[in-house]
Amino acid sequence: MISRNFTPTIHRYSDVISTNATAKDLIRQGAIEGTVVVADRQTGGRGSGKRSWHSPVGGLYVSILLLPVDPRRPTDLSVLAGLATAQAVSELLPKSKDVTVKWPNDCLINWKKVSGVLCDAMGDSFGNYCIVGVGLNVNVPPEELEKIQPGHFAPTSFIVENAGGEFDLQRVADVFLQKLFTLYRLYHEQGFEPIRYLWQKNCRFVGKRVELREVGWKEGDSPKRGITVGTFEGIDESGALVLVNSKGERHHYFSGEISCFWQ
Ligand code: BTN
Repeated sequence: MISRNFTPTIHRYSDVISTNATAKDLIRQGAIEGTVVVADRQTGGRGSGKRSWHSPVGGLYVSILLLPVDPRRPTDLSVLAGLATAQAVSELLPKSKDVTVKWPNDCLINWKKVSGVLCDAMGDSFGNYCIVGVGLNVNVPPEELEKIQPGHFAPTSFIVENAGGEFDLQRVADVFLQKLFTLYRLYHEQGFEPIRYLWQKNCRFVGKRVELREVGWKEGDSPKRGITVGTFEGIDESGALVLVNSKGERHHYFSGEISCFWQ
């Protein structure tokens, strides 16, 4: 069993395939809750929806071993990690007014994607743990951002959004981990509700009309199948997206990608 009382232990690497995979190996060797894996670069970084995560030197690539309050709720931790990222970005780039979480766990600066979260939930004899992997484009220059598979929100990085030069990656990691573990303790003391409240406070999509595409929808598919338009109301107690349609009906979505919004 993984111990509930932990002190974060940080494992640093210059080069890994994926910090989530390294975290998995460490679990097999007995790593416990609060174990952190940080790498300078990844050669096979994984993104959500079977995409890759371009991981050159200059980005922050980190995976943390955490436990959900209930093994059936691993997505709590991905929402929590997205919120921690947005809090860290707001602190590190105080002049950026448009910092927002994007459902379920991205962070955008000026409506461009600066980070993503990939959670691998694991349930076996080691316990029901969750490997929370976060990629944050910190000192990633424009020529590297161009290599990222285009998504609905263009990629960006700290140095693109901030004219002041490179950031100290160690400090970025420290600020992020401090936000993450503060939220994690709050979550274990009071449950998902305060996380939901803070997530919504940090979400600039609330009240906007958005388009939600089903997972797997591609250009050329019929828009009637797989695209839903509605007003973004927030997230519910399970982290699902709540949209209100033109008839005023409220629907809850557990997957999909916000592809468009109207300010
Ligand atoms: C996304 O596509 O938005 C999720 C990206 C998650 C990337 C991070 S980088 C650290 C960890 N290791 C991986 O291979 N992926 C996650």
